[in-house]
Amino acid sequence: MSRSFYVTTPIYYINSDPHIGSAYTTIVADVVARYKRMMGYDTFFLTGTDEHGQHVLRAAQKAGKDPKEFADELASRFVKLWKDLGITNDAFIRTTDDFHMKTVQDFFQKMYDKGDIYLGKYEGWYCVNCETFWTEKDLGEEKVCPTCHRPLEHIEEENYFFKLSKYTEPLLKHFKEHPDFVEPDFRRNEMLKILESGLEDVSVSRTSFDWGVPIPFDPKHVVYVWFDALINYVSAIGYGRNEEMFNKYWPADVHFIGKEINRFHSLIWPAMLMSVGLPLPKKIFAHGWLTVNGEKISKSKGNAVDPRILMKAYGIDALKYYLLRDIQFGHDGDFSEDNLITRINADLANDLGNLVHRTLAMISQNFDSLPTPKDEGEHDEELKDLTLKTIDEYFKFMDAFKFTQALESIWKLIRFGNKYIDLTEPWLLARDESKKNRLATVLYNLSDVIRNVSIMLSPILSNTSEEIFKRMGQTAKSMEDLGWHKTLSNTPIKVEKPLFPRIDTKKWKKVIIMTEEKKENVEKVSGSSKPQVTIDDFAKLDLRVARIVAAERIPKSEKLLKLQLEVGEEKRQIVAGIGKVYTPESLIGREIIIIFNLKPAKLMGVESNGMLMAAKDGEKLRLLTVDGYVDPGAKIS
Ligand code: MSP
Repeated sequence: MSRSFYVTTPIYYINSDPHIGSAYTTIVADVVARYKRMMGYDTFFLTGTDEHGQHVLRAAQKAGKDPKEFADELASRFVKLWKDLGITNDAFIRTTDDFHMKTVQDFFQKMYDKGDIYLGKYEGWYCVNCETFWTEKDLGEEKVCPTCHRPLEHIEEENYFFKLSKYTEPLLKHFKEHPDFVEPDFRRNEMLKILESGLEDVSVSRTSFDWGVPIPFDPKHVVYVWFDALINYVSAIGYGRNEEMFNKYWPADVHFIGKEINRFHSLIWPAMLMSVGLPLPKKIFAHGWLTVNGEKISKSKGNAVDPRILMKAYGIDALKYYLLRDIQFGHDGDFSEDNLITRINADLANDLGNLVHRTLAMISQNFDSLPTPKDEGEHDEELKDLTLKTIDEYFKFMDAFKFTQALESIWKLIRFGNKYIDLTEPWLLARDESKKNRLATVLYNLSDVIRNVSIMLSPILSNTSEEIFKRMGQTAKSMEDLGWHKTLSNTPIKVEKPLFPRIDTKKWKKVIIMTEEKKENVEKVSGSSKPQVTIDDFAKLDLRVARIVAAERIPKSEKLLKLQLEVGEEKRQIVAGIGKVYTPESLIGREIIIIFNLKPAKLMGVESNGMLMAAKDGEKLRLLTVDGYVDPGAKIS
């Protein structure tokens, strides 16, 4: 029976277009799936889209569309993107698929029957963007989402709850018995900390909207979108429908995810599985976050580019190579277009491209086809040893998802291949008929290095490897073909254009164009961390003198004061974070400076219509005032 391997990506929310950050997980998972297939595993690679919940519903409403119609349109964009990027997923699940919705209902029912679901009332905070419930203890004074920093909504609903607390101990035990259940280890430790402080029950249904999977025994509730989404990992492989398939692939070998959704995958999902009596996934690997050209990915910055644009400009192989080589998998990293170009020129065009080109050109100049090795000589042993050592290291690193290290190791071999050419000087051997046998060996050895390198690179430089095999007349396809002197001799050689043309950085037009706003940020005023502004920028602010006529503390806040102001004829209320430094009484009658035309906001539920100005030096804080009396409402210019 063949060994199986099951790898997954998160299923992506459909409400925004995928960018290089969201493509990252899929690209990595694809590399792993390709690698495992080449190792002979019966591999199943799953990705898909997460289509229910309030966030998607609101996006659909905003677009004036029926949510299903909206979901169909957006999900198809993901399907197309993965196809265009050459992603080899075996299935694409959508949470609106009937079979999935049915599985979610069955799963939920099982948990209910087990006594793990109860009806209660949820009162607290919710981030619609992340579809996450937050409790007071997770939050500071300002009610913003700890993950995405967007304002939270306060909800009060009748909800079903999952007895997550009951699984604290079993989970702790599992973490202890399986030290590599969650990787990297610093992510595992974060989860352990949460576990050690004890888990609380979680709300798992919603009643204020109906875009979701109805709970079978109480259909006015829909299943909480995260519960619905996590179940995709078992529904896609036939849980409850196709036992043979399910037993072949479950438990998953690895769930690849971003670090921000680790809690759902490493705590809640395993507890759900324990509740229905299923084995837990073997590993959850939470990688870091990418910025692009040093900035958080965002449309307004112009760096949320469609990965296809990068692929068209640089090729999919180079893009994959760069992502796996330069970003240490597991850690946060920056996608820099300049560094991508450097990698293409140095590693791909120069090191790899030259090795292949020089070797194949010399073979075709001196032989009819790929020669058979004859006379051994100096440096051969060294080349052989390094090749075998690289193969060993490659498996070790790839199995541990240490892609950067795997590639570094391969590149040491490539560079030594180029050095071997310099040391053995085949161009001199070619001039002397009596050294033809030695020349044959040198060129065969080099071909053997190239063949091994191409096999190892196949999961990443998939098209390039294929092209190299073609040029050398090789048929190798699997990891079993790795090894010394396994290259087929007497095969026809083709010398063609360079595999990776060098990019002339002086003439090249980069594809990630940051917006004007970003460019200005680069032209910083000396000594300031902020960009220069024009007088027009300044003129956008309406600064006024205001008089404080009343002040009081906001309950439960140390810092916030509610101030009533007179600004000319107008009365204003603002909330100011100065309560640690000023008492309310000391403020009455003072003249201060405020931003009059700031958009109103709510702080701890209290409306603030404007903002006062203060000078801040560490903990020290002083109000800005005027030098002498002027009438409140006076403009500042
Ligand atoms: N729908 C949930 C996941 C449910 S899985 C059962 C979700 N979707 S998401 O669209 O927000 O995608 C999140 C995933 O996209 C992250 O976990 C990560 O894998 C990937 N990334 C999105 N932006 C990213 C970066 N800037 N950098 C790296 N990965 C990022 O959460």
